[in-house]
Amino acid sequence: MCRLAVKSCTAVAPSSTANLGPGYDVFGLALDALYDKVTVTRVKGSDGRITIKMSDPSIPAAPESNSAGLVIKKMAQEFGVADNLEVRVKKGVPAGYGMGSSAASAAAAAVAFDGLYNLKIKKEKLVEYAAEGEIASAGAKHYDNVSASVLGGFLISSIKSDPVPLFVRFAPPRDLVLVVAVPSIPVPERKTEVARSVLPSEVSLRSAVCNVAGASTIVAGFALKDVELIARGIDDAIVEPARKHLIPGFDSVKENALAAGALAVTISGAGPSVIAFLKTARNSKKVAKAMAAGFGQAGVKCRTFLCRPSAGAHVV
Ligand code: HSE
Repeated sequence: MCRLAVKSCTAVAPSSTANLGPGYDVFGLALDALYDKVTVTRVKGSDGRITIKMSDPSIPAAPESNSAGLVIKKMAQEFGVADNLEVRVKKGVPAGYGMGSSAASAAAAAVAFDGLYNLKIKKEKLVEYAAEGEIASAGAKHYDNVSASVLGGFLISSIKSDPVPLFVRFAPPRDLVLVVAVPSIPVPERKTEVARSVLPSEVSLRSAVCNVAGASTIVAGFALKDVELIARGIDDAIVEPARKHLIPGFDSVKENALAAGALAVTISGAGPSVIAFLKTARNSKKVAKAMAAGFGQAGVKCRTFLCRPSAGAHVV
């Protein structure tokens, strides 16, 4: 437990998948596959200096280009904290997977800062701070991964109500199982920004109607704790068609997973991971194998994760 006058506080935050097909930038689901751990420590001096220590040297450690760094900078500014801080980030969610890596660091950083200064900030407000971190990787704030990573479960983030976003959380059905296949392909440093740049700026009414229908079905599925209904909504007429060319073998991976018993398949967040939705773990190994074979058809190796929804970030 972190208390006032402690020197250091550590928090962990889970991986997540964003969009779930039609819910671009709105839907997020926390996944228990992987976790980031962030420790914020008060060090000597009070010049407001923030030093980031990354376990993964490929991620920029300058506070302005680092998702945890941006969050701590913003929170220190808002709360008038001038202490020099060391932020140690132990990456468990690798960058570039499409499993909310930057969001996990940002969420853990926000929760650790809150704990260090015993601020007791409302969780929804912590999501807003954590969203600052997404600027480092996506070039813009988006709430879908951070809301899931901070709050856990399935989240609807309504940015229509900006500047006060609305977050609605659902506890996922117990029988929801996910298989994530992560292809071993090179991804650009600001991968999410690149994946956002291929999206259309305007869409047809037909596509919009299709995605509203899908998104509504997913929400109904979570509200009713009905995995089959959730899966029926995972049908994206806008983002998936525009991005799938960035994922070699995507069509084979999807086709194979469905043939092996997955109920629905789509891109996880900005990709390149592909996520399959299942009811119960019975078929999960078969689906994982089928997805790996799909990537194999495109000459690409992959890692697979069998996971379930996760609870949110917390102090350890
Ligand atoms: N909604 C974001 C996107 C998620 O699809 O660009 C990025 O993880």
